Amino acid sequence: MNGGTCGVVQIMKIGIGNDHSAVEMKQQIKEYIESLGHEVVNYGTDTAESCHYPVIGETVGRAVASGEVDCAVLICGTGVGISIAANKVDHVRAAVCSDTTTARLVKEHNNANIIAFGARIVGIEKAKDIVKAYLDADFQGGRHAVRVDMFREIELKNVRHEMNRM
Ligand code: RB5
Repeated sequence: MNGGTCGVVQIMKIGIGNDHSAVEMKQQIKEYIESLGHEVVNYGTDTAESCHYPVIGETVGRAVASGEVDCAVLICGTGVGISIAANKVDHVRAAVCSDTTTARLVKEHNNANIIAFGARIVGIEKAKDIVKAYLDADFQGGRHAVRVDMFREIELKNVRHEMNRM
């Protein structure tokens, strides 16, 4: 599995996950993505009850890494905690964005397969623009592919390092 692909003009299956701080924004972003013609898989949470964002981040990260969804959107208060959790899953490249230029570039250069943002940081219109910029962008490959491949080398190197310590 390469952790999903986004950016091509086709119907995609897009995961979405959030903690309690982003329930309303998640619903609005879900409806927005569906209005673009994509399928959305909602991994919760859907209540205001306090929950642990690492659980959601890992769940969505695994869904992307396994190919269950093509890519995903994660939202917490800042976008940071939930993306850190997702990035602990092999093959995941989750990027926090607060602007549309970053959202485009994380796809073009980093081949990010998860985009994250904060419900306490960006408003709903900016959040929609971030999602659109990310979905419309394509990975550019070439010299960027060499660098993205290095992410995987780091993952494997650290697994070996952990094994050697056991
Ligand atoms: C939850 O209060 C908050 O810590 C969380 O949404 C997020 O901002 C963590 O990174």
